[in-house]
Amino acid sequence: MIPINLPKIGEEEVQAVVKVLRSGMLTSGLGAGPQVTEFEKNFADFAGAKHAVAVNTGTAALHSAVLAVGVKQGDEVILPSFTFVATAEAVVLAGAKPVFADIDPQTYNLSPSAVEKAVTKKTKAIMPVDLYGFSADMKPLKEIAAKRGLALVEDAAQAHGTTYSGKPAGAFADAACWSLYASKNMTTGEGGVTTTNNDQIAETLRMIRTHGEKAKYSSLMLGTNYRMSEIQAAIGNVQLQKLPSFVAKRRQNAQQLTKILEKNSKLVLPYESKDRLHSWYLYTAKLKDGTEEERNHIVEKLKKKGVGAEVYYINPVHQMPFYRENFGSAKLPETEKASKQVFSLPIHPGVTEEQARFIGETVLSLL
Ligand SMILES: Cc1ncc(COP(=O)(O)O)c(C=O)c1O
Repeated sequence: MIPINLPKIGEEEVQAVVKVLRSGMLTSGLGAGPQVTEFEKNFADFAGAKHAVAVNTGTAALHSAVLAVGVKQGDEVILPSFTFVATAEAVVLAGAKPVFADIDPQTYNLSPSAVEKAVTKKTKAIMPVDLYGFSADMKPLKEIAAKRGLALVEDAAQAHGTTYSGKPAGAFADAACWSLYASKNMTTGEGGVTTTNNDQIAETLRMIRTHGEKAKYSSLMLGTNYRMSEIQAAIGNVQLQKLPSFVAKRRQNAQQLTKILEKNSKLVLPYESKDRLHSWYLYTAKLKDGTEEERNHIVEKLKKKGVGAEVYYINPVHQMPFYRENFGSAKLPETEKASKQVFSLPIHPGVTEEQARFIGETVLSLL
């Protein structure tokens, strides 16, 4: 089976981990040992941001960022439902209400006009997601946020290598949250990081990460333990150096798939523009006018033939039992349509040219 994603770990990562293990310093009480400090510097440079605050998951990055921009109990936060559930969890964990807005069917990302309609007096923040590694439309969202005095927290979990208007993902947000989970374009096993140009937000993120402390045993606010270990950061430092080559290989595989699949008019292929470069975290095609059953049938057949196709996301968050029961139903026609028609294909750096051809031709044979 060609898996949908696979971490690419080499001898360099192994050596970096062994070095940390031998050093005896596996983590740091106040949040940032030498490896974490280096990783934060490297990641901030990569993202073109003033600060990077490393944590132990992307979900922790989202939760702490939502808190750090001031989201509180009783607030509303506007976000897409067509995302991984962690985006919404961050809002609920902060005591706020997730308000789901519909997506643009071409990019699968939050529609700025839908966001505008969802703003109320209680809205505190907007959380766009760079779905599949393609940037949300940040300029109009930033305009709405500025006009209404809202915070903009970008879920860049899938966006290592994504650009918007020539800048790395996250550049237009108050805070951007990245995942370093094993499937992502770069990994630390589990891990996350938040980037920001705002000194106050960065300071709050650092406090939340370590029990609300600036100095030991003197909590200034409610915090938790979201620390990244030295072992994770050592892997991250190596992976970050390799990231450009990983994204280049993903791009090459994506281009090869597009060349094969564009021959069939039943598919809508992923959208990209010069102004918004894809990180190609996932190559997601849509079965135009297809039913959910037809799409599921293709995914099942692909799996039987050794292609690890998957559906991201088969259940939009607003339709999940917990969210429906607690936050009511929402009408999101584009989200619901996309969830029935999309499927993703493997293009990770471990996919060879021959495998990419096999994947493309297998899809064509099933249509
Ligand atoms: C869009 C999105 N948001 C948030 C997360 C959560 O990240 P993590 O799994 O590192 O907690 C992920 C990845 O899993 C994701 O894809």
